[in-house]
Amino acid sequence: MHNIAVIPGDGIGREVMEEALCLLEEICKTNSLLTIEWEIFSWSSEYYLQHGEMMPKNGLDTLKKYDAILFGAIGDPRVADEVSIWDLIMPIRKGFEQYINFRPIKQLAGINAPLQIDKDIDFVIIRENAEGEYSNMGGNLYQGTSQEMAVQNTVMTREGVKKASAFAFKYARSKNYKKVTSATKSNAILHTMKLWDREVASVSSNYEDIHFESVYIDALTAYFVQRPEEFGVVLASNLFGDILSDLGSSIVGGLGVSPSANINPEGNYPSMFEPVHGSAPDIAGQGIANPIAQVWSLALLLEHLGYEQPADAILQSIQHVIQEGIVTPDLGGTCTTKQVGKAIRDQVKSN
Ligand code: NAI
Ligand code: MG
Repeated sequence: MHNIAVIPGDGIGREVMEEALCLLEEICKTNSLLTIEWEIFSWSSEYYLQHGEMMPKNGLDTLKKYDAILFGAIGDPRVADEVSIWDLIMPIRKGFEQYINFRPIKQLAGINAPLQIDKDIDFVIIRENAEGEYSNMGGNLYQGTSQEMAVQNTVMTREGVKKASAFAFKYARSKNYKKVTSATKSNAILHTMKLWDREVASVSSNYEDIHFESVYIDALTAYFVQRPEEFGVVLASNLFGDILSDLGSSIVGGLGVSPSANINPEGNYPSMFEPVHGSAPDIAGQGIANPIAQVWSLALLLEHLGYEQPADAILQSIQHVIQEGIVTPDLGGTCTTKQVGKAIRDQVKSN
């Protein structure tokens, strides 16, 4: 028996979440091995406008009791992005030590991706999600004067890099990926990136069955475009991983089909699963958002909880629906969010 906390959020987050939940309901109905219950939390920008906070003060204590979190998207033109992101998503990621950000980069047949590569693109990006370049250490001197100078520190700890590397190699082995590629820049960033290189290499020595390579980030971005089919697991620091993730999702079809997971590998807190995209105010309310990224995020959640079979069934159904051309405008189609959601459900049912 598993309990999931569901936070639809704002804008299209709510629209695509509806499809994910209908699908979950369907799967639970037809699969007696799946015992999942969920509770929906209305924490969002709307909630903020009413209560002056994105979630209640004891929000994390409430979420802590769940086995996983399914998140939609947050963001509303009436509330500063700084508030919506930093007062809801960030406390969850940080408070629950979700130090791995995980993104599958998989080319689904039938998607008109920009590269048009007729090869099997199927790799994952594992991004260190808690330290690195996104620290708030630093400062700004002489602000507003001609001598103004800003310093932003990167913080890398041996322990942090080691844990992220261990996750990457373990994952590669468990899923039969033959290669781990580490993104580095130790030719120019001499302190932190050398520590990164050393720790990753040290962890790699425990995995002789997996080929390990370390590639400079600038060259790596080019290889992503030139030969994406060669990657297995790509391990990167916070900033490099952020950039590679968006590049990766754009080569296989864009935001509407890009799921992600924020993982707490120790399992002492819940992990969170969410589409990469935001609340898309430009199309919110029109019923044309692509629900695939959200539905795929649900599949990642189910897989994380050990329900591999329904997770596979969802992915196969997504694949089928795309090949049938049942897609939203972002993928060149004319279908609505609900039509795509229903088609995926029908396909899961018929399998
Ligand atoms: P966005 O991801 O919401 O939208 C970017 C573009 O992609 C838009 O043109 C949108 O229509 C399109 N798009 C996104 N998801 C789509 C889908 N499922 N189907 C079809 N088209 C889709 O990013 P943007 O515009 O930069 O940010 C909008 C709001 O979302 C902001 O408030 C931002 O802070 C927030 N945001 C929240 C995130 C989260 O909740 N994790 C992540 C990124 C942004
Ligand atoms: Mg990003």
